[in-house]
Amino acid sequence: MSGVEILPDLFFFQRGYLNGNHFVYRNEEPILIDTAYKADFEITERIIARVGVDLGRVRLIVNTHCHCDHVGGNRTIQERSGCDIAMHKIGKHFIDTRDDWATWWRYYVQEADFFTCTQAFEDGDSISVGPHEFQVIYTPGHSADGIVLYHREAKILLSSDTLWEHDMAALTMRVEGSRAVFSLLESLERLRGLDVRMIYPGHGAPFTGLDAAVRKAVRRLEGYLEDGTRIGDDQLKKIIVYTLMMKRGANEETFFDYLMTTPWFVETIDLYFRKEYRTKYDHIMKGFLRKGIVKREHGRVFTTVTP
Ligand SMILES: [Fe+2]
Repeated sequence: MSGVEILPDLFFFQRGYLNGNHFVYRNEEPILIDTAYKADFEITERIIARVGVDLGRVRLIVNTHCHCDHVGGNRTIQERSGCDIAMHKIGKHFIDTRDDWATWWRYYVQEADFFTCTQAFEDGDSISVGPHEFQVIYTPGHSADGIVLYHREAKILLSSDTLWEHDMAALTMRVEGSRAVFSLLESLERLRGLDVRMIYPGHGAPFTGLDAAVRKAVRRLEGYLEDGTRIGDDQLKKIIVYTLMMKRGANEETFFDYLMTTPWFVETIDLYFRKEYRTKYDHIMKGFLRKGIVKREHGRVFTTVTP
């Protein structure tokens, strides 16, 4: 995988779904925007080295939010380089107070390490990535500390997990609170009408057509408001696939029992599907197998989605 130079010396790396996409500014004092998922750190390091950046020299990491697939390399890179780490003031608060619930790590049983967050920013601040100035736009909903970064002159938007082209990042009511759908609607409203020629999302390929993507996302959220079980369905499907990626597959016999030990699986089904744990699980897995999203081999189940 090679980086794509989106502005002079600023490279975009498209990863899969276990790892968030990330950016590297190449310089004597490199700057990273997000650092992917912890378990794949060696891959992250290798692909960053290919554009000539040594992680031991990193000066600053900027995070778009505190989720595990965006901060996974933070601790190791900070230990090696002594770099600063900057994020939205709410994310900094979660990290400062060692709150592994607000970060989703414990709720979804994800691998991640705390680090030292040295700088906080808020809505409207500017961030300099070398000569490239980005404006911080605060966009909660998916994550309480979510931001997007907007480069006005180049008309580039780093939309992280606030806006994807075809799909939408998971919403987690029991961590973010029941107003999360409304928060995300307000956040999307703030993006509408920005002058943008290219959007680099947190997952998936770059795309154009900001307003079309916003409209699509708004329609989906309106669907969520009409029928809450759609949120539950999307959340269960996304996190089951994510769990299969994190665990590199699971024993078919014991996977359901494992899910029953996690806070998120039980709570989501309690909230939307009247405690029908097994029925819901069987229904989702059957659909995944039929569509080829999950494959079965020698008593194990795997996802075909790229990590
Ligand atoms: Fe993400």
